[in-house]
Amino acid sequence: MKKMPSAVIIGSGIAALQAARHLAAHMNVMVITKTVMRQSNSYFAQGGVAAVLSPLDTYESHINDTLAAGEFHHNAAAVKQLVMEGAACMDELLKEGFSADRQENGLLSLGLEGAHSHRRIVHAGGDATGKWAVEHFMSHLPGQVDIREHELAFELIVQDKVCTGVKTKSRNGKVHQYKADHVILATGGAGALYSFTSNQETITGDGIALAYRAGAAITDMEFVQFHPTLLYVNGETKGLISEAVRGAGAVLTDEEGGKIMQGVHPLGDLAPRHVTAFEIYKARKSGREVYLDISMIKEFERAFPTISAICCGQGIDIKKGLIPVAPGSHFLMGGVKTDTSGRTSIKGLYAIGETACTGVHGANRLASNSLLEGIAFGKRFAKALIASGEASEKAGQPVSSAAAAIPPLFEKKELQSMMMESAGIIRTSEKLQALADCLRGPVQTKGDISHWPVEKIESLFMHTTAYLIAVSALVRTESRGAHIRADHPLKQAQWEKTWITFENGQLNK
Ligand code: SIN
Repeated sequence: MKKMPSAVIIGSGIAALQAARHLAAHMNVMVITKTVMRQSNSYFAQGGVAAVLSPLDTYESHINDTLAAGEFHHNAAAVKQLVMEGAACMDELLKEGFSADRQENGLLSLGLEGAHSHRRIVHAGGDATGKWAVEHFMSHLPGQVDIREHELAFELIVQDKVCTGVKTKSRNGKVHQYKADHVILATGGAGALYSFTSNQETITGDGIALAYRAGAAITDMEFVQFHPTLLYVNGETKGLISEAVRGAGAVLTDEEGGKIMQGVHPLGDLAPRHVTAFEIYKARKSGREVYLDISMIKEFERAFPTISAICCGQGIDIKKGLIPVAPGSHFLMGGVKTDTSGRTSIKGLYAIGETACTGVHGANRLASNSLLEGIAFGKRFAKALIASGEASEKAGQPVSSAAAAIPPLFEKKELQSMMMESAGIIRTSEKLQALADCLRGPVQTKGDISHWPVEKIESLFMHTTAYLIAVSALVRTESRGAHIRADHPLKQAQWEKTWITFENGQLNK
């Protein structure tokens, strides 16, 4: 009897679950997560899924909004696929019973968010879309999918540019090795590299670091999106205040009631995120506190139960109508370079969701296009893999390498502050160069790291991803989308279609 091919998916967010679900009838599927299945960024996503589902909306409009928000540094064909296939996927999910928010007349209750020219955001549970979506996917996950929790993938088994498996380590120190025809990276982005972030603390760029260390192509790492409105309490950010709140009418103000976005952009408070985040950053730098004035939103707690609970947990009385906010890292537009079928530069290795860079987000992702990406491209990847009938060409034995000594590594908090300060909302050549210089040493660590404690491996991955961001941001001497250089404040035409890419550990442009 012919052996079923096997796929190991690393990560447990929407893209991973969508892929697992579609692959499971055709191959043996294992899902590995370093924590637990419901600990992904997807699970905690408040915002919804952007999809053309209203007869008043058009694909062209969603495509144009995506391109404009990302300042045209896109793979335009990929954007078209995302918008069209994404809408079809959402339609399928709704038909299958995904319980999206609806109006009293039964029609979908479609929300508005920054830089969208139509109401096209599908929400569920008010501001708990991610949780509802993950629960929906979990309940449709075929029982034969093998789930491994609390295992950190620390090395891809790659020989002659073919990936044939992955090694993982449990928190208790046990090392595992899984052979697979296909290894899929779906570990999300790298938001936790920054001290101000909307991301879960587990989002440390693992998939990107694994791929980089294996020699895969990594691209667009300078494009880190900062979400304008994280709850800001006692000098720290404490979670997201969804853009849907501004979509419902909230306004950014300072303590005097001065409107932060007045006269800045035609879309005002719903300008693209990098524009809004930059204005808030400038206001805060000049000593002003920034608030979301929510006083005009009727029944706020009913519309935004998750946000109300977060505020309440931090001692913010939403009845007073003002939520203190600051920007923080939110989404990585760059990542492991793939086509829209998830293929990387290494055979047998794939990346999907935020870990991948298909060029679909350009220099700044449009709001609510990320769950859409996971849903649309998770399925597209699985279908393409099944259709290809590909299986590994060879068994691939891991090449044994000498044990690597643990280099001096920055403490997590220190690294996060360095990233915020030097590779944050505003960047300069001087700071980026200094940052890259102090990260380079650890990043060059070669050899076997299987004996390292899991925390040190994760720290090495953070240093690696941080380094890729710093170097890419240094090389791009223009400002475009989320990448803002104080020393190169203008967009430069020659950079629009230039991708900064690392392959085999080397930078090429
Ligand atoms: C939000 O709800 O503001 C975040 C959603 C997204 O990043 O698309």
